[in-house]
Amino acid sequence: MNGRDLVRSMKAVGSAGAAQRLRTVRAAWRARRADAAGLPARGVERARVPGPVQDVEPGPGGGVVRFSRSELRITVAVNGAVFWGWDGAGPEPSYALAGRCPEPDPRAVLEPDKDGGWRVVAERATVVVSRHGAVEVQTPGGVTLRRDLPPRWWEPVDGGAARWMQRSEVVADARFFGLGGRSSGPRLRDGVYRLWNTDPGHAFGPGDDPLYLTMPVQLVVADAATHLVFHDTSWDGTVTLREGEEGAGSGHDRPGTSELRMSGGPLRCWVMVGTPARVLLAWASLTGASALPPAWALGYQHARWGFGSEQEVRRIVAGYQDRDLPLDAVHLDIDHYDEHQVFTVDQDRFPKLPQLAEDLRRGGVRLVSIVDPAVRIEPGNAVYDAGTAVDAFVRDAAGQLVRGEVWAGESVFPDFTHARVREWWGGLYEERLGQGFSGFWHDMNEPTSFAAFGEWTLPRSARHALEGRGGDHREAHNVYALCMARAAYEGLRELAPQERPFVFSRSGWAGLQRYGGTWSGDVATGWPGLRASLSLVLGLGLCGVPYSGPDVGGFDGSPSPELYLRWFQLGAYLPLFRTHASLRAGRREPWEFGSEVLAHARVALVERRRLLPYFMTLAHLARRTGTPYVRPLWWGIPEDRALRDCEDAFLLGDCLLVAPVLDPGADRRAVQLPRGRWYDTATGRAYDGPGQILVDAPLSRIPVLARAGAVLPVRGEDGGLELEVWAPARGRTGGGLVVPDAGDGWEEPEIERYVTRWQGRRVVVEREGEDGVSAPPHPVRIRGVEER
Ligand code: GLC
Repeated sequence: MNGRDLVRSMKAVGSAGAAQRLRTVRAAWRARRADAAGLPARGVERARVPGPVQDVEPGPGGGVVRFSRSELRITVAVNGAVFWGWDGAGPEPSYALAGRCPEPDPRAVLEPDKDGGWRVVAERATVVVSRHGAVEVQTPGGVTLRRDLPPRWWEPVDGGAARWMQRSEVVADARFFGLGGRSSGPRLRDGVYRLWNTDPGHAFGPGDDPLYLTMPVQLVVADAATHLVFHDTSWDGTVTLREGEEGAGSGHDRPGTSELRMSGGPLRCWVMVGTPARVLLAWASLTGASALPPAWALGYQHARWGFGSEQEVRRIVAGYQDRDLPLDAVHLDIDHYDEHQVFTVDQDRFPKLPQLAEDLRRGGVRLVSIVDPAVRIEPGNAVYDAGTAVDAFVRDAAGQLVRGEVWAGESVFPDFTHARVREWWGGLYEERLGQGFSGFWHDMNEPTSFAAFGEWTLPRSARHALEGRGGDHREAHNVYALCMARAAYEGLRELAPQERPFVFSRSGWAGLQRYGGTWSGDVATGWPGLRASLSLVLGLGLCGVPYSGPDVGGFDGSPSPELYLRWFQLGAYLPLFRTHASLRAGRREPWEFGSEVLAHARVALVERRRLLPYFMTLAHLARRTGTPYVRPLWWGIPEDRALRDCEDAFLLGDCLLVAPVLDPGADRRAVQLPRGRWYDTATGRAYDGPGQILVDAPLSRIPVLARAGAVLPVRGEDGGLELEVWAPARGRTGGGLVVPDAGDGWEEPEIERYVTRWQGRRVVVEREGEDGVSAPPHPVRIRGVEER
């Protein structure tokens, strides 16, 4: 038994008392026994490499290259993405793909290359396969972006899953991003990153890896081009990254390397090449458009573990309203459940939940419910009984129910990899809708099961349906939360067809955006946690999950007023803007930190509300293009090296550059500007990039700069849409897109396209339509003209 694990688990379940502690010990022993009996022992293994090339078979979009000990299938899809799979692996079945795999591009052909190799030439990339099975991805101009050395497998001689390793080299100037939600990014430095969704068991900081949401997606940014590579394998693995170095030893470049080691699953991947925007567009076309949140979910939300009662919820909401602080949603944590059991309500503390929900809603505040997957084993508990009736719960290799330990005690876990189970589970949200909830917060779905030792999840031998293919937790673990999100999303679409489902989930995998977003999980209160919050949002966006945000203020402990305020100010510019904290943590309401913090937090809240139409526009654009709301500074200019290394600021859409304060005691900060003119939105002062500037960052605000020429949709005083237009630089033009949104529902709004230009001494704004230009249908406010 590992002493640290024991202490860790004790802490987490500490308040639950001795009985629960004992159960975590039992659960750990059970998992160990189940795996000893239900997993194949790792016996003798045989190593294999592809061997020399034998022959080829051209096919649509590419073909198959046969080696003496393996074969490689390459297909270029119509969206420009390239697929290749070893040992006969095809793109399907896949949990990441949004639907059917895209059609092959008939123009891409397999042809002989030098030295007995082969290549597939496509519009956006060329894939070159060497005689021994190295695979190179080149730009159309012939620059090699990535070189995968021949893979290596280790196969158990008596059958079972083969481990494999794929070592790749990337150009020396490349930077790595992605791999899901990482606390130490967004630029992923040299190190080992694990691919196994994990509840770290404590509030985490930048050193903790892995976290709740991992995915084998790398976005690699280099001068020659950006590429995204996705290894479509849900098994446990590690990625070891090492950045390259230009002009290393004797003036030669040392390439960057990425070494992927997987414990099983197919060796297959997708690669997309181009600009960051093009690459994420292709990624979204492959894995699906991001779910559009209802407008209220782009407002400010307040959560807490331990409101404890209806009265307390009313008191908090009144606290916001009495102080004129905008509030759009309140989240109820597990303490509103009856003894922590999912889909129940504690009738003593929340006797009239539907009434509470209705009263809040009348005041413009929605209720969001936490939903945990674990179901307490208790005959008489409706969810347990119904789940048992449909045989919903995960079983072990011997056919017994897999029992774990979570908040509600000894529990079983729905197998969301079964369509029938998803359908059943999706139907359970009817109870939540009946209680008056409008949104859903999926938690503990890595899945987490407390254990005194070993891993905090289900035994690896636990059986899963995997859509009828059958398999075990080694394969199902990483897609568990993804499938749970699907169950909720699809259920809600049926139960409330007029409304946009709002689901966000702690864990997930490639494709999660189809069903909703995510949040940081239990980020540690402290300045490093604040930095990690931004890293997570940026990294997830680059993996195709655009909607996320941290626990503002941190999950545990008590932030200083300054830290709380800086976190709040950052949160106001992130898609999910939510204060939240643990049961035993200090308060997180803005008025709990003194009148100065309250005044400044109010400014942030009011500004967030004013920016709502802009956030809504960004949500629509993310859905249509795959471009995240929150983007690294290098987004439009990946070849700008200084921007590529800048991690302390971000672009919010095309219009704004946000430079949060991430250090204590700061009242100014340096900002790395992309090229072009930028206005400090507080002072109106103009700066010309590229270059570094120093700007004021008093406690009252964080620096936000607007791009010259930007057209920003904002909410006017009367609640209507207004355009805030920032003057283009002299002699230049500008413009932007606005998507007016109804707030909820499925009506497809028309995208409004604006151009801005100088006309004499005036800046004019025009709407561009199919039949020429016209005056904007919204009031316009021009800024940046009077200022110099
Ligand atoms: C987990 C969640 C946290 C929640 C708590 C109780 O730690 O990450 O947000 O408050 O469980 O449900």
